[in-house]
Amino acid sequence: MHTLIKNILAASEPKEAVTIKGWVRTRRDSKGFSFLELNDGSCFGSLQCVVDAGTPGYDGIAHFTTGASAAIEGKLVPSPAQGQKWELRATKIELVGLADPTYPLQKKGHTLEFLRSIAHLRPRSNLFGAVFRTRSKLAFAVHEFFQSRDFVYVHTPIITASDCEGAGEMFRVTTLKGKPDEKPEADFFGKPAYLTVSGQLEAETFACALSNVYTFGPTFRAENSNTARHAAEFWMIEPEMAFCDLNGDMDLGEEFIKAMARYALEHCAEDLAFFSKFVDKGLSERLKFVTERPFVRVPYTEAVEILTKCGKKFEFPVSYGQNLQSEHERFLTEEHFKSPTTVFNYPREIKPFYMRLNDDQKTVTAMDVLVPGIGEVIGGAQREERPAQLAENMKFHKLNEKDYWWYSDLRKYGTVPHAGFGLGFERLLMFLTGVSNIRDVIPFARTPGNAEF
Ligand code: 4AD
Ligand code: MG
Repeated sequence: MHTLIKNILAASEPKEAVTIKGWVRTRRDSKGFSFLELNDGSCFGSLQCVVDAGTPGYDGIAHFTTGASAAIEGKLVPSPAQGQKWELRATKIELVGLADPTYPLQKKGHTLEFLRSIAHLRPRSNLFGAVFRTRSKLAFAVHEFFQSRDFVYVHTPIITASDCEGAGEMFRVTTLKGKPDEKPEADFFGKPAYLTVSGQLEAETFACALSNVYTFGPTFRAENSNTARHAAEFWMIEPEMAFCDLNGDMDLGEEFIKAMARYALEHCAEDLAFFSKFVDKGLSERLKFVTERPFVRVPYTEAVEILTKCGKKFEFPVSYGQNLQSEHERFLTEEHFKSPTTVFNYPREIKPFYMRLNDDQKTVTAMDVLVPGIGEVIGGAQREERPAQLAENMKFHKLNEKDYWWYSDLRKYGTVPHAGFGLGFERLLMFLTGVSNIRDVIPFARTPGNAEF
């Protein structure tokens, strides 16, 4: 492994001999010497190298073009230039790989749309380097958050036969040619199988054995909605807690988002500074605000009242019994409460079968956390733990109880109140970076009509 530029830039004193390896960002030739800016993606910054004409390797300097890879040996010395502590006085330069003149990242200022079309090269840009370093840090933070609270990490299956959300948005997995529904028993698994939309049902079985558990893995939805917040493949974090009710669930959701914002501020400062400057000017303020104040909590019924009385014209009408649309969610969190907001106790008709029916017989113990700029980042609930009521819920939602026999068994053998939620990792990243399109916080986005790379 080579020494990363990140570590070299963090040096506290000059160094006699260092070798760096990376990709040329820019080259400027002067009389008798050249400046080479090398970046290896380990941090936001590049290292400026000063190469005198006599340096071994200098005769090939013309090949050190933007995008080419290079190894440079030299002395690390304080830089006289503004804005950088160190520079490298090259003693030897070596070209590792040429960059063809067609290299598409020549200049700055490409549109995000264009960069999406070169998703294999965009991690080399400032923005995407920052996004994907932040993504990596936050993935680690997710594990640290749960592990430090004694949650057990469970790998739930990616291929499943049960539709957790009942929204009919599952991708079919089949080895049959032709129409798989004509003879599902002849298929690979002997029954229809799909890519999972959520690991929740399986996570519940583990919570009913190991108390507090979480999953963190890819989930899939064949939603044909081409929005900036929906992907067909995304990563979800799903904690599930035994002996926990809706309040405990809302507490954990809030604590989790706050912890992630705090972690980003602390551990991704350099990249966050870039987002604050070039992507979303209000970012740092917003993240600090999030870590410091309690979230607003409001029952669905009250949220609908606020929306119907606010006098604002929405594209979709609001009325009790309808799902909140993104524009409604954003009005609540951005304009009305001006704070992350947890909406709870939704009408049972618009929520899945597994949510616990409230005593009013009309609403279920659902909760959604809404944040400014995005809307829903968390969807969760206290689960129905009463066997007879679960059976009734399944009838209500026209599900076949037999398909969920193992799920019902949890209620038969030592049932406990339990609760959990799902948080879309990409939506969290959008919130923490200010990047406004989900396609730009996932390495290779899968959206309707698009599975390139
Ligand atoms: O609200 P959802 O559908 O809830 C569940 O799947 C529950 N089974 C979770 C649980 O209780 N364990 O999805 C949870 C979250 C949403 O709040 C959103 O952040 C994200 O997953 N999400 C998506 N993210 C990107 N693209 C999509 N198509 C998404 N659909 C949901
Ligand atoms: Mg939801």
